[in-house]
Amino acid sequence: MVSWKGIIHHYRSYLPRVKEQNIVTLNEGNTPLIFSEDLTQRLGLEVYLKYEGLNPTGSFKDRGMTMAISQAKEKGARIVMCASTGNTSASAAAYTAKSGSMKCVVLIPEGNIALGKLAQAMIHQATVLAIKGNFDEALTLVRDITDNYPVEIVNSVNPFRIEGQKTAAFEVCDQLGDAPEFHAIPVGNAGNITAYWKGYCQYKEIGKSRQLPRMLGFQAAGAAPIVDNKIIEKPETIATAIRIGNPASWKSAIAARDESKGLIDKVTDDEILEAYQLLASHSGVFVEPASAASVAGILKLKMRGYFDQTPKAKIVCTLTGHGLKDPERAIKIIKQPLLVEANRKAILKKIGL
Ligand code: F0G
Repeated sequence: MVSWKGIIHHYRSYLPRVKEQNIVTLNEGNTPLIFSEDLTQRLGLEVYLKYEGLNPTGSFKDRGMTMAISQAKEKGARIVMCASTGNTSASAAAYTAKSGSMKCVVLIPEGNIALGKLAQAMIHQATVLAIKGNFDEALTLVRDITDNYPVEIVNSVNPFRIEGQKTAAFEVCDQLGDAPEFHAIPVGNAGNITAYWKGYCQYKEIGKSRQLPRMLGFQAAGAAPIVDNKIIEKPETIATAIRIGNPASWKSAIAARDESKGLIDKVTDDEILEAYQLLASHSGVFVEPASAASVAGILKLKMRGYFDQTPKAKIVCTLTGHGLKDPERAIKIIKQPLLVEANRKAILKKIGL
């Protein structure tokens, strides 16, 4: 069996061309599609979790970044830049480090990025600039600078990012044998919902799948510009990854919603945290809070009777990032370890034996 060499090698014929010597890869993709008995029971649907936290830098961003950084290398770029709520910067920093020929500059919103992500960008030696502003302001600045200076933008407004990310939809179809009836996904800057829809449509067009899913997107209630149909100047949510008030791919997210006959809805921070704990405690999957928005969303739809007409349908939830990205959030809401004397008797007493 040929070992997995990353999404560009595996899905080469469906992606823009990159010369072999310019491919920058960390063997991303090929993430597991995990069947969840617990969620299947709760929802009355067949529920699968696409665990994108198992990509090399711990999030789905690596699929787009291998394409964007490879293309930047092919163009002879020296510097790449992005705005980020954390995962894009972690991924961009790692892939530029791997390229051996480029530097990475990232703009992050000060105080609103999870610790693990910050550690990643810094250990890979990106230039990390924390701005006194939010993600939307950071992205405006990055667009301005990359429009006017010889610097490549590697945010998802770079079309190669979307091209790479669409391979997650290909994988779902390859793993399930066809597209599912529903696909649930968190929505922030709205690149990923755009990418999945593009991937599903392309795979169907070339006969690799037979059906198209309804796309179910979920924003955090305090950062739900698409649902509320207005720019949110000061977005707020504990799911810092999707703390975005003016998504760059707004229009294409609406197109994905409407063409697929799906929906984009919002979930509260409490609902996100409930789903976050449920995934960890009953499905064995530790994700970062933003990733749990997809599961929070479908639990809410179930209560509203949304799935009543489609029993036994298949649904895939994208779990976008690993739980270890944001250890502080987990530690804040779980029970602290029990202190116990270092002897057998004391331990047996504590565990009721
Ligand atoms: N989940 C996680 C863990 C993310 O990091 C992001 C986006 C999303 C969901 C939303 O995806 O933006 O394509 O709609 N993170 C970006 C970043 C904004 O900078 O890392 P989207």
